[in-house]
Amino acid sequence: MIYTFRSVDWDTYRMDTRRPHEELEPADCEISTVDGALKTLVRAGVLPHADYDYDKFLAHRHAVRELFDIPWTAITPRMQRLIYAVNAIVQPINMLAAGVYCGNTFISNAGAAVGPGACYSAKSLIGIEIVPEEAERAERNVRLIDSTVVARVIAGDAVGMAAEFPEEINLLYLDADGAGGRGKGVYLDIVEACLDRLPTGSIVLAHNSVNCAERLQYYLEFVRDPANFRSSVNVILDPEGLEVSVR
Ligand SMILES: C[S@@+](CC[C@H](N)C(=O)[O-])C[C@H]1O[C@@H](n2cnc3c(N)ncnc32)[C@H](O)[C@@H]1O
Repeated sequence: MIYTFRSVDWDTYRMDTRRPHEELEPADCEISTVDGALKTLVRAGVLPHADYDYDKFLAHRHAVRELFDIPWTAITPRMQRLIYAVNAIVQPINMLAAGVYCGNTFISNAGAAVGPGACYSAKSLIGIEIVPEEAERAERNVRLIDSTVVARVIAGDAVGMAAEFPEEINLLYLDADGAGGRGKGVYLDIVEACLDRLPTGSIVLAHNSVNCAERLQYYLEFVRDPANFRSSVNVILDPEGLEVSVR
Protein backbone atom coordinates (compact mmCIF):
# COMPACT_ATOMS: atom_id res chain seq x y z
CA MET A 1 0.00 0.00 0.00
CA ILE A 2 1.31 3.45 -0.91
CA TYR A 3 0.72 6.07 1.76
CA THR A 4 0.72 9.81 1.12
CA PHE A 5 0.43 12.83 3.39
CA ARG A 6 -0.44 15.96 1.41
CA SER A 7 -1.03 19.37 2.99
CA VAL A 8 -3.65 21.50 1.21
CA ASP A 9 -1.14 24.27 0.45
CA TRP A 10 1.94 22.17 -0.40
CA ASP A 11 2.43 23.78 -3.82
CA THR A 12 1.96 27.39 -2.72
CA TYR A 13 4.16 27.07 0.39
CA ARG A 14 7.42 28.29 -1.14
CA MET A 15 10.70 29.63 0.17
CA ASP A 16 13.42 31.89 -1.20
CA THR A 17 16.38 29.50 -1.16
CA ARG A 18 18.76 32.42 -0.41
CA ARG A 19 16.76 33.38 2.70
CA PRO A 20 16.77 30.14 4.73
CA HIS A 21 15.45 31.66 7.95
CA GLU A 22 12.53 33.64 6.55
CA GLU A 23 9.26 32.92 8.37
CA LEU A 24 6.73 31.62 5.83
CA GLU A 25 3.68 31.17 8.06
CA PRO A 26 2.56 31.53 11.70
CA ALA A 27 4.16 29.00 14.06
CA ASP A 28 0.86 27.25 14.85
CA CYS A 29 0.27 26.56 11.13
CA GLU A 30 3.77 25.08 10.75
CA ILE A 31 3.30 22.94 13.88
CA SER A 32 -0.11 21.62 12.87
CA THR A 33 1.03 20.72 9.34
CA VAL A 34 4.06 18.83 10.66
CA ASP A 35 1.95 17.17 13.37
CA GLY A 36 -0.43 15.98 10.64
CA ALA A 37 2.50 14.46 8.74
CA LEU A 38 3.84 12.76 11.88
CA LYS A 39 0.41 11.28 12.67
CA THR A 40 0.22 9.84 9.15
CA LEU A 41 3.66 8.28 9.71
CA VAL A 42 2.37 6.71 12.93
CA ARG A 43 -0.73 5.34 11.16
CA ALA A 44 1.47 3.86 8.44
CA GLY A 45 3.60 2.07 11.04
CA VAL A 46 6.70 4.12 10.26
CA LEU A 47 6.95 5.93 13.62
CA PRO A 48 6.02 4.64 17.10
CA HIS A 49 4.51 8.00 18.17
CA ALA A 50 4.33 11.65 17.06
CA ASP A 51 5.62 13.48 20.15
CA TYR A 52 8.68 15.71 20.24
CA ASP A 53 9.72 18.74 22.30
CA TYR A 54 8.68 21.97 20.50
CA ASP A 55 10.92 24.14 22.70
CA LYS A 56 14.00 22.02 22.03
CA PHE A 57 13.28 22.24 18.33
CA LEU A 58 13.12 26.05 18.60
CA ALA A 59 16.45 26.10 20.48
CA HIS A 60 17.94 24.06 17.62
CA ARG A 61 16.46 26.38 14.97
CA HIS A 62 17.74 29.46 16.81
CA ALA A 63 21.31 28.07 17.04
CA VAL A 64 21.36 27.23 13.31
CA ARG A 65 20.09 30.70 12.46
CA GLU A 66 22.73 32.36 14.64
CA LEU A 67 25.75 30.19 13.84
CA PHE A 68 25.51 28.52 10.42
CA ASP A 69 26.87 29.91 7.15
CA ILE A 70 24.12 28.88 4.66
CA PRO A 71 24.54 30.36 1.15
CA TRP A 72 21.32 28.64 0.02
CA THR A 73 19.08 25.79 1.02
CA ALA A 74 15.93 24.12 -0.24
CA ILE A 75 15.05 22.91 3.26
CA THR A 76 11.86 24.80 4.16
CA PRO A 77 11.02 25.58 7.79
CA ARG A 78 8.35 22.83 7.70
CA MET A 79 10.91 20.33 6.35
CA GLN A 80 13.47 21.39 8.97
CA ARG A 81 10.90 20.75 11.73
CA LEU A 82 9.78 17.42 10.23
CA ILE A 83 13.34 16.07 9.87
CA TYR A 84 14.27 17.16 13.40
CA ALA A 85 11.06 15.60 14.78
CA VAL A 86 11.60 12.25 13.02
CA ASN A 87 15.11 12.06 14.49
CA ALA A 88 13.88 13.12 17.95
CA ILE A 89 11.26 10.33 17.83
CA VAL A 90 13.42 7.56 16.31
CA GLN A 91 16.58 8.53 18.25
CA PRO A 92 19.07 6.86 15.88
CA ILE A 93 22.30 5.71 17.54
CA ASN A 94 24.06 5.82 14.16
CA MET A 95 22.91 8.17 11.40
CA LEU A 96 24.36 8.74 7.91
CA ALA A 97 23.37 11.73 5.76
CA ALA A 98 24.37 11.64 2.08
CA GLY A 99 24.87 14.92 0.18
CA VAL A 100 24.84 17.60 2.86
CA TYR A 101 26.18 20.69 1.01
CA CYS A 102 26.75 23.34 3.76
CA GLY A 103 25.36 21.11 6.51
CA ASN A 104 21.85 22.53 6.95
CA THR A 105 20.18 19.25 6.02
CA PHE A 106 22.64 17.28 8.13
CA ILE A 107 22.10 19.35 11.27
CA SER A 108 18.30 19.19 10.84
CA ASN A 109 18.82 15.46 11.48
CA ALA A 110 21.74 15.53 13.93
CA GLY A 111 20.34 18.48 15.91
CA ALA A 112 18.04 16.08 17.77
CA ALA A 113 21.14 14.59 19.44
CA VAL A 114 23.71 17.43 19.59
CA GLY A 115 23.63 21.11 20.46
CA PRO A 116 20.84 23.02 22.22
CA GLY A 117 18.06 20.91 20.65
CA ALA A 118 19.51 17.61 21.87
CA CYS A 119 16.99 15.21 23.38
CA TYR A 120 19.00 11.94 23.38
CA SER A 121 22.56 10.61 23.10
CA ALA A 122 23.83 9.19 19.81
CA LYS A 123 27.01 7.33 18.98
CA SER A 124 27.91 8.44 15.46
CA LEU A 125 26.19 11.00 13.21
CA ILE A 126 28.01 11.38 9.91
CA GLY A 127 27.35 13.76 7.03
CA ILE A 128 28.97 12.85 3.70
CA GLU A 129 29.64 15.49 1.04
CA ILE A 130 31.48 14.81 -2.21
CA VAL A 131 32.77 18.38 -2.77
CA PRO A 132 35.70 18.84 -0.35
CA GLU A 133 35.27 22.62 0.08
CA GLU A 134 31.58 22.17 0.90
CA ALA A 135 32.39 19.37 3.33
CA GLU A 136 34.88 21.69 5.05
CA ARG A 137 32.30 24.47 5.37
CA ALA A 138 29.67 22.02 6.66
CA GLU A 139 32.13 20.66 9.22
CA ARG A 140 32.98 24.22 10.34
CA ASN A 141 29.26 24.92 10.75
CA VAL A 142 28.62 21.72 12.71
CA ARG A 143 31.56 22.36 15.07
CA LEU A 144 29.90 25.65 16.11
CA ILE A 145 26.89 23.71 17.43
CA ASP A 146 28.37 20.39 18.53
CA SER A 147 31.41 20.62 20.82
CA THR A 148 31.78 16.82 20.78
CA VAL A 149 32.64 14.86 17.64
CA VAL A 150 29.47 12.79 17.71
CA ALA A 151 28.28 14.78 14.68
CA ARG A 152 30.81 15.35 11.91
CA VAL A 153 30.98 15.90 8.18
CA ILE A 154 33.37 13.91 6.01
CA ALA A 155 34.36 14.53 2.39
CA GLY A 156 33.69 11.54 0.15
CA ASP A 157 31.33 9.61 -2.10
CA ALA A 158 28.28 8.50 -0.13
CA VAL A 159 27.97 5.26 -2.12
CA GLY A 160 31.41 4.02 -1.09
CA MET A 161 31.14 5.34 2.44
CA ALA A 162 27.73 3.74 2.98
CA ALA A 163 29.16 0.46 1.70
CA GLU A 164 32.06 0.67 4.16
CA PHE A 165 30.22 1.90 7.27
CA PRO A 166 31.00 -0.90 9.74
CA GLU A 167 27.91 -0.79 11.99
CA GLU A 168 24.13 -0.79 11.83
CA ILE A 169 22.64 2.43 10.42
CA ASN A 170 19.49 3.43 12.31
CA LEU A 171 18.63 6.40 10.11
CA LEU A 172 19.81 7.19 6.58
CA TYR A 173 19.12 10.61 5.06
CA LEU A 174 19.41 10.96 1.26
CA ASP A 175 19.94 14.29 -0.48
CA ALA A 176 22.92 13.69 -2.82
CA ASP A 177 22.31 14.89 -6.34
CA GLY A 178 24.81 12.48 -7.86
CA ALA A 179 28.16 12.78 -9.55
CA GLY A 180 28.92 11.65 -13.10
CA GLY A 181 25.41 12.32 -14.41
CA ARG A 182 23.66 9.95 -11.98
CA GLY A 183 21.61 12.78 -10.48
CA LYS A 184 19.16 11.89 -7.73
CA GLY A 185 19.17 8.33 -9.10
CA VAL A 186 22.18 7.85 -6.82
CA TYR A 187 19.76 7.39 -3.87
CA LEU A 188 19.15 3.77 -4.93
CA ASP A 189 22.90 3.11 -5.20
CA ILE A 190 23.39 4.41 -1.64
CA VAL A 191 20.53 2.38 -0.15
CA GLU A 192 21.66 -0.80 -1.90
CA ALA A 193 25.23 -0.20 -0.69
CA CYS A 194 24.15 -0.42 2.98
CA LEU A 195 20.88 -2.41 2.86
CA ASP A 196 22.41 -5.25 4.87
CA ARG A 197 23.14 -2.80 7.74
CA LEU A 198 19.66 -1.25 7.88
CA PRO A 199 18.06 -3.20 10.74
CA THR A 200 14.34 -3.74 11.32
CA GLY A 201 12.86 -0.40 12.39
CA SER A 202 15.54 1.72 10.74
CA ILE A 203 14.35 4.74 8.79
CA VAL A 204 15.36 6.11 5.40
CA LEU A 205 14.49 9.73 4.57
CA ALA A 206 14.70 10.78 0.92
CA HIS A 207 14.42 14.49 0.09
CA ASN A 208 12.84 15.62 -3.22
CA SER A 209 10.22 12.86 -3.43
CA VAL A 210 7.97 15.37 -5.25
CA ASN A 211 10.07 17.67 -7.45
CA CYS A 212 12.48 14.86 -8.46
CA ALA A 213 9.91 12.02 -8.52
CA GLU A 214 10.70 11.12 -12.12
CA ARG A 215 14.45 10.90 -11.50
CA LEU A 216 13.72 8.90 -8.32
CA GLN A 217 11.36 6.44 -10.04
CA TYR A 218 13.47 3.32 -9.40
CA TYR A 219 14.32 4.44 -5.86
CA LEU A 220 10.65 5.06 -5.03
CA GLU A 221 9.58 1.73 -6.53
CA PHE A 222 12.24 0.02 -4.41
CA VAL A 223 11.26 1.54 -1.04
CA ARG A 224 7.54 1.15 -1.76
CA ASP A 225 7.98 -2.57 -2.42
CA PRO A 226 7.02 -4.42 0.81
CA ALA A 227 9.71 -6.99 0.02
CA ASN A 228 12.29 -4.28 0.75
CA PHE A 229 10.66 -1.86 3.23
CA ARG A 230 7.77 -2.56 5.62
CA SER A 231 6.11 0.78 4.91
CA SER A 232 6.80 4.02 3.04
CA VAL A 233 5.05 7.40 3.08
CA ASN A 234 5.39 10.29 0.63
CA VAL A 235 5.20 13.37 2.85
CA ILE A 236 4.13 16.31 0.69
CA LEU A 237 4.15 19.45 2.79
CA ASP A 238 6.19 21.62 0.43
CA PRO A 239 7.08 21.49 -3.28
CA GLU A 240 10.11 19.22 -2.63
CA GLY A 241 8.68 16.43 -0.46
CA LEU A 242 10.21 13.71 1.70
CA GLU A 243 9.78 9.94 1.28
CA VAL A 244 9.92 8.31 4.72
CA SER A 245 10.50 4.54 4.70
CA VAL A 246 10.88 1.97 7.48
CA ARG A 247 12.69 -1.38 7.25
C1 LIG B 1 21.01 19.37 -3.45
S1 LIG B 1 22.48 19.45 -2.49
C2 LIG B 1 21.85 19.24 -0.87
C3 LIG B 1 21.39 20.56 -0.29
C4 LIG B 1 20.23 20.47 0.61
N1 LIG B 1 19.08 19.87 -0.05
C5 LIG B 1 19.80 21.83 1.13
O1 LIG B 1 18.80 22.32 0.64
O2 LIG B 1 20.46 22.39 2.01
C6 LIG B 1 23.20 17.93 -2.90
C7 LIG B 1 24.62 17.76 -2.43
O3 LIG B 1 25.02 16.42 -2.68
C8 LIG B 1 26.39 16.41 -3.01
N2 LIG B 1 26.67 15.12 -3.65
C9 LIG B 1 26.41 14.73 -4.93
N3 LIG B 1 26.75 13.45 -5.14
C10 LIG B 1 27.25 12.98 -3.97
C11 LIG B 1 27.75 11.73 -3.55
N4 LIG B 1 27.83 10.69 -4.40
N5 LIG B 1 28.17 11.61 -2.27
C12 LIG B 1 28.10 12.66 -1.41
N6 LIG B 1 27.64 13.88 -1.76
C13 LIG B 1 27.20 14.04 -3.02
C14 LIG B 1 26.56 17.64 -3.87
O4 LIG B 1 27.91 18.05 -3.94
C15 LIG B 1 25.65 18.65 -3.14
O5 LIG B 1 26.35 19.41 -2.20
